[in-house]
Amino acid sequence: MPEESEQSDAFDTESGPVPIGVKLGSTRTVLAYPDEDGGVETVRTLTCLATYEDALTGDERVLYGEEAARQYPDRVQFMLRSGLPEDADRAELTKQFFEELCRSRDLPEDSAVVYAIPTIDNARGLSNLNDVIEGSSIGGALVRSFPESLCGAIPAMGDDLEAVDEIFISVNLGSTNLEACAYRHGEQLSPFVSGAATGNEVDRQIANAVEEETQGRVNIDRTTAREYKEEHADFNSFEAFTDIIQQPGGGSHEFTIERSVMEPLDDYLDQVVDELANNFLSELANTHMKPYQLALSRPIVLTGGMTCIPGLVEEFETRLSEELGRDIDATTAERPDLAAAEGAYRIAGQLARNL
Ligand SMILES: Nc1ncnc2c1ncn2[C@@H]1O[C@H](COP(=O)(O)OP(=O)(O)OP(=O)(O)O)[C@@H](O)[C@H]1O
Ligand SMILES: [Mg+2]
Repeated sequence: MPEESEQSDAFDTESGPVPIGVKLGSTRTVLAYPDEDGGVETVRTLTCLATYEDALTGDERVLYGEEAARQYPDRVQFMLRSGLPEDADRAELTKQFFEELCRSRDLPEDSAVVYAIPTIDNARGLSNLNDVIEGSSIGGALVRSFPESLCGAIPAMGDDLEAVDEIFISVNLGSTNLEACAYRHGEQLSPFVSGAATGNEVDRQIANAVEEETQGRVNIDRTTAREYKEEHADFNSFEAFTDIIQQPGGGSHEFTIERSVMEPLDDYLDQVVDELANNFLSELANTHMKPYQLALSRPIVLTGGMTCIPGLVEEFETRLSEELGRDIDATTAERPDLAAAEGAYRIAGQLARNL
C-alpha cells in the first residue's frame, strides 16, 4: 500500500510552495490564499477563542471566531486585545487559535507565508508574536513579515506590487491604534503610532452615548456597540435605527438610536485628522521634506477596518484638506478590512516565485 501523504491535498504544491498572507489583528484575523480557479480566497474571523470540556470524554475542546463569541460570550478571550500577545499565556492562546484556523482550511506546511504586522514599539509583544509565527505549522518554505500599513496599501495602488515601488503615505485605522507611515520604495519614513483615535475607543463612546440617548434605560456592551457601528455607521447617509432589549424584570424595551453612533465617529475622524496633521505630517515634513512633498501630491492610502465605513474616505479628504489648507486626495482598497492580508499574499506570491 502506498504511504499516506502527510501533505494536505486541498492545495497544489507541485509547482512550488503555496503563498499565504496573514493579518493577525486584535479584533479580526484575515487569511488570503489561492482558490481553485487561480483567484484568491480570503477568510475573516474574530480573533478570539473559547475552550470547553467534552461532555462525554472530558477532553478539552477549542472553539474560535464568531462561533466562540456567540456560544461562550461569558468566557471568550480576545487574546490580542491590546494589539500583540502581552504575555506567554496569551501567546499560547494565539498559537492555539491560529493552528485551529489553519487546520480548518487545510493550509499546507509547504507554503510561503507573509505576515502583515503592526508597527508598534513593544519588544515583548513583538517577540511573543514571533513565537506564534515560528511555532505555526505553515510557512515551511518561507516566513517573512512586513508592516501592515504597507501590505494594506498594495491592493489600493494597483493589481500587482506597485505600492512597493512608490513614494506615498499610508494610514491604518484599526481597533487599538492609529498608524501612519510614509513609504519610499518600501522603506519606512517617520513611522507613527497613536492610541488617541481608535476603533475600540469609538465603541466605548457609542456605549456611553447610547446610555445617554436612552436616558439611562439602555446599557450595551462593547461588542454590541461595535456591531451598531459596523452595521449602521455611514458618513453619507446615516439612518436612525431601533433595537430591543429584554428587561431584567421581564418584558422588553424598544428604543431608537439617532445620534449615538455618528457623534462618536465624528469626534473620531476629527482626532484622526488632528493627529495626522499636527503630529505625523509635521514630523515627516521636518525630517524628510522632499519625500513629504512628493507623498502629499499623491493620494493618501487608508487601510484597516474603520475605513469600511461608507463616506469616511471622502470626509477624511475634506477635513484634512481644510486642516492643511491644501487639496488632499485619499484612496483605499475595495475591501480595506481585507487589504493587509491580500497585500501580504501578493508579496508571498512574489517571494515564492523567487525561491
Ligand atoms: N464594515 C465595518 N464598518 C465599520 N467598522 C468596521 C467594519 N469592519 C471593521 N470595522 C472596525 O474596524 C476595526 C478593526 O479594524 P482592523 O481589522 O483593521 O483592526 P485589527 O487589525 O483587528 O486591530 P489592530 O490593528 O488595532 O490590531 C474595529 O474597530 C472594527 O469594528
Ligand atoms: Mg491591524
